[in-house]
Amino acid sequence: MIFDILTLFPEMFLSPLEGSIIGKARQEGKITINLINIRDYAEGKHRVTDDYPYGGGQGMIMKPEPIIRGVEALLADKPKAQVILMTPQGTPLRQEVVKRLAQHARLIIICGRYEGVDERVRAVVDEEISIGDYVLTGGELAALVLVDAVARMIPGVLGDEEASEDDSFSQGLLEYPHYTRPREFAGRRVPEVLISGDHQAIEQWRRAEALRRTWKRRPDLISRARLSDEDQRILEKLKGTSETD
Ligand SMILES: C[S@@+](CC[C@H](N)C(=O)[O-])C[C@H]1O[C@@H](n2cnc3c(N)ncnc32)[C@H](O)[C@@H]1O
Repeated sequence: MIFDILTLFPEMFLSPLEGSIIGKARQEGKITINLINIRDYAEGKHRVTDDYPYGGGQGMIMKPEPIIRGVEALLADKPKAQVILMTPQGTPLRQEVVKRLAQHARLIIICGRYEGVDERVRAVVDEEISIGDYVLTGGELAALVLVDAVARMIPGVLGDEEASEDDSFSQGLLEYPHYTRPREFAGRRVPEVLISGDHQAIEQWRRAEALRRTWKRRPDLISRARLSDEDQRILEKLKGTSETD
C-alpha cells in the first residue's frame, strides 16, 4: 500500500515512521510512504503557501493552488488513489473506517496548518477524516495516527504475535485484560483460569471480560456490537451486579 503525504513539515514524519512495526513494513516493501512538501508546488520566489482570510479575522489560510497542484500531480500516477483531507470537521476515525481505508491501494493524505485550508481544496478531496473532537496545530500528527492505524491492517504488517483480530474495536468491543509473568505481583494474582490450560474456559473468560469492560467503560459500543445469545446472557448477568472495573 502507498501513502502519499502532502505536508509543509515532512521532517515531522521521519522518526515515528522509522522504527518498530511501521519501519519494518517499509523496509520489507509492504508499505511505501512518500513525503511531499506542499511548498514544492507553490509559485514565486518565496513559494508562499498561506494567505490572509477573505472577510478578515485571525490566522492564516492555506492557499488552494499549491495543494491542488500537488494532488493533481500525484493523481497522474498509478495506482488510483483515495484523497483524504485531515480536518477536525471530518468523519471521526473509527476502526471500521480504518479497515475500509486499508482496502485502497493508495492514499493521498493532505495535512492542513494554521486556520486550515481554503474551502476550494475540497474539490479534489474524496473524504475528510478527523482523529477526534479536539483541535491540533496541524494535520501531521493526525496523518501519523491514520497511517499507523491503516498500515497495521495491511496483510503481513503485523506478525502472528501481534495479531489484531482480538484488538479493541475489531469486533466492536474493548479487548479483555492481559497478564504476563510473574503469577503473583504485589499480592495480585493472575486469574486462575489463565493458567488452567483449559483453552475453552480461557476463551469464555476473555469474552466475558471483554463484554464486562466494554459495558462498564464504553456502553455506546455495546449498543452497536454484534452479540450472540451467550453474550446477551452474560450482559444480563452483569447488569444485575454492581461491580466496578
Ligand atoms: C488549527 S487546525 C484548523 C482548525 C479549523 N480552524 C477548524 O476550526 O476546523 C489546523 C489543521 O490541523 C489539522 N487538524 C487539527 N485537528 C485535527 C483533528 N482533530 N483531526 C484531523 N486533523 C486535524 C487539520 O489538517 C487542520 O487543517
